[in-house]
Amino acid sequence: MPIYPKPSSGSESVRRLLLAVALPAVLRLGPAAHGAPDPACAIYPGAEWRDDRGAVINAHGGGFLRSGGRYYWYGQHMVEGEAGNTAQVGIHVYSSEDLCRWRDDGIAMPVSLDPRSEITKGCLIERPKVIFNRRKGKFVMWFHLEGKGSGYSSAMVGIAVADEPAGPFRFVRSFRPNAGRWPRNAPETMRTPLSQAELARLSGCKMNGGPSADFPIDLVFRRDFAGGQMSRDMTLFVDDDGAAYLFTVAEENATLQISRLTDDFLGVTGDYARVFPNGFNEAPAVFKRKGRYFMFTSGTTGWAPNACRLSVASSLWGPWRQVGNPCSGTDAQKASTFDSQSTYVLEVIGQPDLFIFMADRWRPENPPDGRYVWLPLRWRGDLPLIEWKDSWAPSNLHG
Ligand code: GAL
Repeated sequence: MPIYPKPSSGSESVRRLLLAVALPAVLRLGPAAHGAPDPACAIYPGAEWRDDRGAVINAHGGGFLRSGGRYYWYGQHMVEGEAGNTAQVGIHVYSSEDLCRWRDDGIAMPVSLDPRSEITKGCLIERPKVIFNRRKGKFVMWFHLEGKGSGYSSAMVGIAVADEPAGPFRFVRSFRPNAGRWPRNAPETMRTPLSQAELARLSGCKMNGGPSADFPIDLVFRRDFAGGQMSRDMTLFVDDDGAAYLFTVAEENATLQISRLTDDFLGVTGDYARVFPNGFNEAPAVFKRKGRYFMFTSGTTGWAPNACRLSVASSLWGPWRQVGNPCSGTDAQKASTFDSQSTYVLEVIGQPDLFIFMADRWRPENPPDGRYVWLPLRWRGDLPLIEWKDSWAPSNLHG
């Protein structure tokens, strides 16, 4: 069923007449046919969300891109059962003009059925993010990649490329970033490989992905100097000058690292900075407003939600300053980020000052039932606030 009536020809007045007559009917019919409770184009955070074919949208850990007047939503396609949290299908893509109604554009990057492939079925492909490279005219996808059966120990990025926003994306390569490079903000005294004594200390430390009293802060990035820095939860950010950056969770989850991408977006330049050493942040979502940079992160409790953290900076390289929990609501809502974990912040084109906080409500015991929590940011002075809404309309937020 087409979602929008498309006047085949005619003047503006004919178009308006058609819209006036047909659109309310379509708005009534569309969501009702898809099972949504409200007739308007609205977003229902945490509710089941269906696509244009009536299927539940399956795009977790999502990344977003606007291209050719449409929004594209890329995410992990998750299946039921024990294997559901691993990559069994690939990266799903949907597209929309209004952010409410999403067309299923299929699997943008399928897993490989070749057991020798790095993206073989059963590996982990998480948090895909897509940016457009003007220089080459290519759509470039980065994602968190873990080799099949390696748990979360590979800690790599994967890259895939496409000519069209909906793909197909062709896998290019995977790697750990910044091998053989020191962070731009590491003092000279730290720019040395680990000594025998430091290696011995490291081997006795507990590193289980979360904070611990004896966490060997400042040893892990030096350990990883030769082989490349670990990269787990990640996002991409393109600045106003067209330069792109990888924000990634490194150093056994202890430290965020920001890396400048090469001009073709197919690698890193080796210029990178450490942010919040020993801060144990995950799920970075980065955006810019009025010349300032903002980042939402979570703590490190796996699929279980925890409190959101807001950080701000006036330069992308930092210093970044953590300014607390941006959520407003009950204690339970604040402690769990409305039962979700950040994945992206989308700036809505054509709507003044509309940024959408996008997060996942993970359901690891039944992964496809994971939900999407999208909430418009409210601004209190220069800082964003996230408040619960049962529903809201992206086109009518300021109306
Ligand atoms: C979360 C992370 C997810 C996934 C999960 C696995 O903290 O943000 O992307 O990796 O852990 O436990």
